[in-house]
Amino acid sequence: MKDWWKNSVVYQIYPRSFKDSNGDGFGDLPGVIEKLDYLKELGIDVIWLSPVFDSPQDDNGYDIRDYRSVYAGFGTNEDMEELIAQAHKRGIKVVMDLVVNHTSDEHVWFVESRKSRENAYSDYYIWKDPKADGSEPNNWGSSFCGSAWEYSEQRGQYFLHFYSRRQPDLNWENPKVRKEVYDLMKFWMEKGADGWRMDVIASISKEQDFPDYPEEEGRKYYTGKYHSNGPRLHEFIQEMNREVLSKYDCMTVGEAPGSTPEVARLFTDPDRKELNMIFTFEHMNIDRVPGSVNRKWALKPFDLRELKRVMSDWQYKLAGRGWNALYFENHDQPRVISRWGNDTEYREECAKAYATVLHGMQGTPYIYQGEEIGMTNVAFELEEYEDIEVRNAFQELVVNGKSITREEFQKAVWNKSRDNGRTPMQWDDSENAGFTTGTPWFRVSDRYQEINVKNALEKKDSVFYYYKELIRLRHEEPLLTEGEYRLILPEDEHIFAYLRQTEKEGWLVAANLSEKTLPSEPLREFVKEMQEVMIGNYERTGIEGELRPYEAFMMRIR
Ligand code: NOJ
Repeated sequence: MKDWWKNSVVYQIYPRSFKDSNGDGFGDLPGVIEKLDYLKELGIDVIWLSPVFDSPQDDNGYDIRDYRSVYAGFGTNEDMEELIAQAHKRGIKVVMDLVVNHTSDEHVWFVESRKSRENAYSDYYIWKDPKADGSEPNNWGSSFCGSAWEYSEQRGQYFLHFYSRRQPDLNWENPKVRKEVYDLMKFWMEKGADGWRMDVIASISKEQDFPDYPEEEGRKYYTGKYHSNGPRLHEFIQEMNREVLSKYDCMTVGEAPGSTPEVARLFTDPDRKELNMIFTFEHMNIDRVPGSVNRKWALKPFDLRELKRVMSDWQYKLAGRGWNALYFENHDQPRVISRWGNDTEYREECAKAYATVLHGMQGTPYIYQGEEIGMTNVAFELEEYEDIEVRNAFQELVVNGKSITREEFQKAVWNKSRDNGRTPMQWDDSENAGFTTGTPWFRVSDRYQEINVKNALEKKDSVFYYYKELIRLRHEEPLLTEGEYRLILPEDEHIFAYLRQTEKEGWLVAANLSEKTLPSEPLREFVKEMQEVMIGNYERTGIEGELRPYEAFMMRIR
């Protein structure tokens, strides 16, 4: 099918936490192969694999040392080829992670680049002289705290890194860099990769006069200004499309922090020949205090109206002009039911309810490993966290800056840390949740005996089977791909409801995202006649009477 990615459902695998096959405590590619039948059973179409390339793992593989080799901890290139072959045999496509805003500082390009100002790789990265007083070229900050500049004694210059100092940013102004990227993409596509998720792709083009952030935004505070959505971004992506993407039947999704729906249209309008879809962050940012020095750790109470407003805005503005990537979770986000819902008494209802509102929308839905069984956040001691983002923020904000107390920070980490999504996948109730026979690289959630795949597969009405049904609907019901979207009850604080409409039919998608029992009357106003319940998380829907806690359904109506 042309544009097969439009009615596909993508499943993201974070390989180090998915399944360990050799007992070293670290997930690997043979482990993924072992679980392909499980994914087949779920019914997904595409796997997105977080980076599996050779890497010192300073940022869990988002720091690549060699784009053409698989990291030894994950296996070998042959394992990767076998994974692609085995997935294809089951009708599953494999999308890889393209991390080319930056490399690892151990990549040979950087090792060479930092040696001198004149060598074959000297312009592969962004090097600048110190200011007259020896200080940094400007006041840009890193997303992982501190300055975005690091001084190299060897070369006598600063290099730019928007992530850790071990992740130097590539210089996309250099045509040789771009050619290298296109070549490595072809390398994997020739081996059968079906596309790319593109890491912070909106940051590859930087404002070339490197202006300071305005004073009021604070020194070294990462804002995304001057490098997100930079001047040559779309030119570069169009070139990539011409040189590589247009030559393959592939799927692309760009990670685009700081993007608005207007920007998304630039990326995804098919006439512009760029990408299929992008990941927005707008809905992920609704529970942080905007502009706070404490960044994502400055918590703002969740307001469902805001979530509905943002998600609907993207639905409206991309309709017919682009395409949405629909997600609540990934390896950078906490578990949605813990973040915005209920992960105790109504854990399963809540997981199904969030799934319903996401999978009822127009776009390509993404499921993050464990989301399909309702995995939850964890609350570990601060010292137990592995993520460089948490560690750096603790140092900068709690220890040095004292802008947030240890207690407040810990609370925020429990709520928002990326490590919430990175605990090992819970396969069964055996030791280490069946993830490994060795010592897991990261602590397993204490709830694995209750929440695991084995239990989910045994229980007829589990979250797993609900997802399976949502995926089946996506495949079989064109309305979900094509239908127009209209939000209803925008001001309701608890109900997320919308209509989908084609020439042939109309659906109501509704969820009570609260623990309260609510009258369903406001919904009935939009329903002349109830025709068929397509899916629901209670025996019978409460459309005639009351919506029970976290009740959700999709219904064909007139
Ligand atoms: C986005 C990735 O998803 C995240 O995990 C990583 O830390 C940054 N980009 C830097 O590559």
